[in-house]
Amino acid sequence: MRGRVVVAGSFNQDFVWRVPRFNAPGQTQLGSFASGPGGKGSNQAIACARLGVTTTFIGALGEDAIAQQAIALMQAEGVDARWEGHPTLASGSAAIWIDAAGQNMIVVDPGANLALSAAHVEAQREAIAAARVVLTQHEIHPDATRRTLELAGEAGALRIHNPAPDVPADAAAPLALVDVLTPNESEFAALLRAHCGLDIDPDALHALADAELHALCRRLPPPSLVLTLGARGAFVSHADAGQDGGPCHRVPARAVDATDTTGAGDAFNGGLAVALAEGRAFADAVRFATAVAALQVQRPGAALAMPLRDEVERLQAEGQEAGTG
Ligand code: RIB
Ligand code: NA
Repeated sequence: MRGRVVVAGSFNQDFVWRVPRFNAPGQTQLGSFASGPGGKGSNQAIACARLGVTTTFIGALGEDAIAQQAIALMQAEGVDARWEGHPTLASGSAAIWIDAAGQNMIVVDPGANLALSAAHVEAQREAIAAARVVLTQHEIHPDATRRTLELAGEAGALRIHNPAPDVPADAAAPLALVDVLTPNESEFAALLRAHCGLDIDPDALHALADAELHALCRRLPPPSLVLTLGARGAFVSHADAGQDGGPCHRVPARAVDATDTTGAGDAFNGGLAVALAEGRAFADAVRFATAVAALQVQRPGAALAMPLRDEVERLQAEGQEAGTG
């Protein structure tokens, strides 16, 4: 095992319906159903563990069948899970629809995730102090996220925050505590609106010139920002122009046939955390993260679709032969 990553975040059980196309209001249609482990935090932790890094996960569960499965899953995946139990709450759950193009729509009931306390995070102080990279998202109580980022900062760990899903400003993580921010297009537009009063169409972002996109990224506090652009790859922006890859650059995604994009962002964040924990140069870490996501979207499911280290290395080796890195 190399490096050490701590993820504080959510566990959800995903209830997934595949449909030819998304329902119109009032419409009933037939689809196919499956259920599996999800939740952005847990997905990211499992991605890290499968990529071969020592991984600690801090999360919360109710006392129900979902909780039992979550505990068993983390053990099976070799993740050191530090659960906070909430007997009166339900474990997190997500309703997911996936259309024929592999796109998804998701509704999350966070349940116990929102009760994850700053005190429980505090009790994991030693694990956080031993981390090279700490990874957070927006599916647990904001006090727990804040405490995680504070402790990580005190310990000198690199703090990666994935601001997903988009939440109201008072539920969002303090960006001043973040080293690397990883929004998608709609999350980035929402943050620009909340922090700078800018009104930007998320669908227009990818078409902006690099200099314009870089200037927008620099309006937010984190010194590094990785804007994920789905099938268009990622845009990387650093305050420090001396960073590997220069002040800003794009990293293309591989052309893949996506069957299920649920958890693609989590795969990307897990991959980025692992590569940075291993001390890789930033641009190289983003390329690694895109390879992890490319493999993940080709399989159904969220956590269980995360690739193993070998698969990512094989894909990257093929890419080098084909000249696509
Ligand atoms: O990022 C994908 C995840 O978002 C799903 O697994 C679902 O649980 C929601 O949290
Ligand atoms: Na998937």
